[in-house]
Amino acid sequence: MADERKETVGVGLIGLGVIGTGVVKVLSRNADVIEQRLGFGLRLVRVADLDIETDRGVDLDGIHFDRDASALIADPSVDIVIELIGGYDVAKGFILEAVAKGKHVVTANKALLALYGKEIFALAAEANVDVAFEAAVGGGIPILRSLREGLAANHISSVHGILNGTTNYVLTEMERTEEDFEVVLKRAQELGYAEVDPTFDVDGIDAAHKLALLTAMAFGAELTYKEIPTEGIRGLAPIDFEMAREFGYRIKLLGIAKCRRDRGGNERIEVRVHPTMIPAGSMLASVDAAMNAIEVRGDAVGPTLYYGAGAGEMPTASAVVADLMEIAREIRRGGAGPVAPLSYMPDHLIAKPLVPLGELRGRSYLRFTAADRPGVLAHLAGALGDQGVGIESVVQPRGVEPGACVPVIVLTHPADEEALRRALEEVDRLADVMAPTLVIRIEEDL
Ligand code: HSE
Repeated sequence: MADERKETVGVGLIGLGVIGTGVVKVLSRNADVIEQRLGFGLRLVRVADLDIETDRGVDLDGIHFDRDASALIADPSVDIVIELIGGYDVAKGFILEAVAKGKHVVTANKALLALYGKEIFALAAEANVDVAFEAAVGGGIPILRSLREGLAANHISSVHGILNGTTNYVLTEMERTEEDFEVVLKRAQELGYAEVDPTFDVDGIDAAHKLALLTAMAFGAELTYKEIPTEGIRGLAPIDFEMAREFGYRIKLLGIAKCRRDRGGNERIEVRVHPTMIPAGSMLASVDAAMNAIEVRGDAVGPTLYYGAGAGEMPTASAVVADLMEIAREIRRGGAGPVAPLSYMPDHLIAKPLVPLGELRGRSYLRFTAADRPGVLAHLAGALGDQGVGIESVVQPRGVEPGACVPVIVLTHPADEEALRRALEEVDRLADVMAPTLVIRIEEDL
């Protein structure tokens, strides 16, 4: 471990991919400002990666570079280990190996923490080391530090986030070009905005990973991402964006977490990821392309908004190096022990009851795919009415061939999710209905 006599704090980096390369760049290009802010330097002493051949365009002179991550972790000159290989088992193994050796850890691995965070943080607390992960949510946006420090005095009531750059890019492009999802996704893949396997992004899983961490930090609610009801963006079509515009909304994939407190102070947590219509004039609605933004409301501070690049080499590296600096400061102060990584002390970080999705109440946008026959509208309206779901507006776009399948758009009045679900089960059984109904929930209060 570093002590007062060391001129610098030693850093070891496991994983020299895009973000790892960014970390090397930030540490060398910004060494001046890092030292001016810390009063001492951060020294990258070792890098480990399975690929030691590819030229990443960074100068590794004087830095020990090989394939041996375990040797890096064991190296006494390494005070802080950065894990940037991603994935589950191997990354978890390295993190726990580092913790067991009394090394602090910085990681961007939201998937790992959203599933195994509890175990990792408990072992880190026992070993009296930090596991920092600012880069795991919102890339370069300092949202975790804001929740843990800047907003620490507040009861947080809600978090609404555009947490995935890939899907925000696809949604923005679908709206702009009026092209189908598959066409836009293919272009996003060609341009490097989407992975070859886009599942984690387009199905909302990456956003759920990040929301699990935000929910813990905002409300002290322990949960894994698997408990979060999650819907992705594959079902959206150009007409949904056109209709959203007509109704005064934009469509965003939102991670939403709210804390419901009853009069007795009991808390239940509402948490979900799904495409959402939000008022076109809201600040989140103006967040386009691959950018991320998170709105957090606290009882003392009111609404606050955090915006920036949620991914990418240098923005993500910016967050990783900020974590290194915070830990290095602690090391220099004599290592008073880890800060509460999830913003609450461990005994106040508990599994709080989740609000079942069926209990939600709100307005929804429905797109039915129906045969264009007399009486169809009456059947749809009847199925909704039978469950007490009121219709606020109905649109059947013109210009569709007579007799063909038509989209029928309905905006509902506020309704219980459970009643809506029962109504849609009935609708989807109707002979006139040709495909499952698309539902986009409307979030007005932004
Ligand atoms: N695939 C993620 C995104 C990268 O699109 O936001 C950062 O987590």
